[in-house]
Amino acid sequence: TSVAQIAILAGDGVGPEIMTAALAVLKAVSQDQFQYQLQAVPFGGIAIDQCGEPLPATTLATCQASDAVLLAAVGGPKWDLSPQRPEAGLLALRQALNLFANIRPTRITEANQHYSPLKLAAPVDFVIFRELTSGIYFGQPRTFSSEMAVDTMRYQREEIARIARLAFQFATTRSQHVTLVDKANVLASSRLWRQVVAAIAAEFPAVTYDTKYVDATAMQLIAHPEQFDVILTANLFGDILSDEAAEITGSLGTIPSISQGSQGPALYEPIHGSAPDIAGQSRANPIAMIRSVALMLVHSFKRTDLANEITTAIDAVMAAGIVTPDLGGSATTTAVTAAIINHIQESREVYATDHV
Ligand code: NAD
Ligand code: IPM
Ligand code: MN
Repeated sequence: TSVAQIAILAGDGVGPEIMTAALAVLKAVSQDQFQYQLQAVPFGGIAIDQCGEPLPATTLATCQASDAVLLAAVGGPKWDLSPQRPEAGLLALRQALNLFANIRPTRITEANQHYSPLKLAAPVDFVIFRELTSGIYFGQPRTFSSEMAVDTMRYQREEIARIARLAFQFATTRSQHVTLVDKANVLASSRLWRQVVAAIAAEFPAVTYDTKYVDATAMQLIAHPEQFDVILTANLFGDILSDEAAEITGSLGTIPSISQGSQGPALYEPIHGSAPDIAGQSRANPIAMIRSVALMLVHSFKRTDLANEITTAIDAVMAAGIVTPDLGGSATTTAVTAAIINHIQESREVYATDHV
């Protein structure tokens, strides 16, 4: 059996704390089950400090040579006024690995719906497919002067088609519904999305399809989040809606993501940032990062069995109220992590006892 090569980008702020937590869980679940090798490399603000740039060539080369990339978060006030920005490294990495699809799942179990700030009528389980390497984040021209600044929202047919195919494909494995979220009443690029996505929808007759404007979707996510299955949307809309979606679970600190292309390593990261306001205090919720490990085990290494052990443990620890302050608890990052690892190990012991 081969050894999985995993690039580790801990980054800035709470990044190192939640990465340590996630790697402890990976180690616990992997015992005699899964072999891997970690390559930790500098990325983001710490790479600016150490190497003068947020995405050093050696870091990119390590990512390209790996089977999967695990990323915590980058950025912070220290670099907000510097000519080099940590976030630019993240955009460059996504582009260099051609990670055009960013997949952000929001799922709330019955046992954990009391963490939601909403009164939920039904279970919530939807996935946002956010386009990640084009749109207003990358479009040219981009100019800045004290009199005028320009950003360009630009999409080409194939950039829309490739993520739309992934979203519809994914919907066939779920509740078979895709919602395209756009601003087609105003934006030309959104009208192209409608044209291209309608054609892809026709290739998936079993999947129902509708469209919604992004402003109305922001409202519907609060009013009736249970109505959504797969949300397909452009880069900026997906960025904004996914933070809103995360909060429906009770905290931004619970939602992981996959960033994937059509080949090469995928990247796994929480959707939240480096949370500089709580860095170094063991207050960060490690769940989004730990769930990112679970997504990696499923998607890059086909170890759904190990991922399920992690997810079950997270759900149980949350249900037991062992949670960080963002979810209203008083447990530390390390205490939550230890509880998750304990749950995994105890479940294995029970399983072993039952099967003698
Ligand atoms: P943020 O996501 O870092 O934090 C927003 C709020 O949510 C903060 O109050 C923070 O304490 C809280 N929060 C976030 N994650 C948490 C966790 N795991 N546990 C508990 N609380 C958590 O967003 P921001 O404050 O707007 O940005 C901070 C920095 O992070 C900026 O430099 C930004 O550019 C960067 N950022 C990076 C990424 C990334 O690396 N993918 C994503 C978003 C923001
Ligand atoms: C995210 C972040 C990034 C984005 C920033 C830090 C560039 O907000 O991953 O959601 O906007 O994509
Ligand atoms: Mn974001």
